[in-house]
Amino acid sequence: VNKIRNAKLVLLGDVGTGKSSLVLRFVKGQFVEFQESTIGAAFFSQTVAVNDETVKFEIWDTAGQERYHSLAPMYYRGAAAAIIVYDITNMATFTRAKKWVQELQSQGNSSTIMALAGNKSDLLESRQVSSEEAEKYAKENGLFFIETSAKTAINVNDIFYEIAKKLLEG
Ligand code: GTP
Ligand code: MG
Repeated sequence: VNKIRNAKLVLLGDVGTGKSSLVLRFVKGQFVEFQESTIGAAFFSQTVAVNDETVKFEIWDTAGQERYHSLAPMYYRGAAAAIIVYDITNMATFTRAKKWVQELQSQGNSSTIMALAGNKSDLLESRQVSSEEAEKYAKENGLFFIETSAKTAINVNDIFYEIAKKLLEG
């Protein structure tokens, strides 16, 4: 029997890190160079099959612009999983990602599975955040870490698959 498990998932992270692009890649298999900045939040859904089970992600793609910060709790409250996204070419976005992790650890649900995504991994020549530094931070904070590229699709399905697996294990 193929059971379907619904799971609320939220993407958080600084403006321009590629949250919407990751979702667009995962849900529609597309990438656009001129993705518009999200206003408020956008909703998507997509399923992932793990063995004989299916996770249906209900995805909230939040807006990174600071003026929308106060809306974030509506989206991370009760979330089964959160993907915190930074841009490997921009150290300030990594700093912002750590702030999101802190906020989730203090305000969110302790059972929320947290993943840290270092996006834009195709832009290696502009890298500012080393994978070692991010990996170390993720380990210390109990996050699942992966570097992704919404542009090339590298590790995009993988991050959702890993989350689905953890949800089903948990
Ligand atoms: P807000 O909605 O403003 O919070 O931004 P966002 O996090 O949703 O970022 P968005 O997906 O809009 O991407 C911002 C810009 O980065 C767009 O021009 C994308 O095309 C580009 N971009 C996103 N992901 C990647 C990536 O993996 N590689 C490269 N090279 N560019 C990317
Ligand atoms: Mg967006």
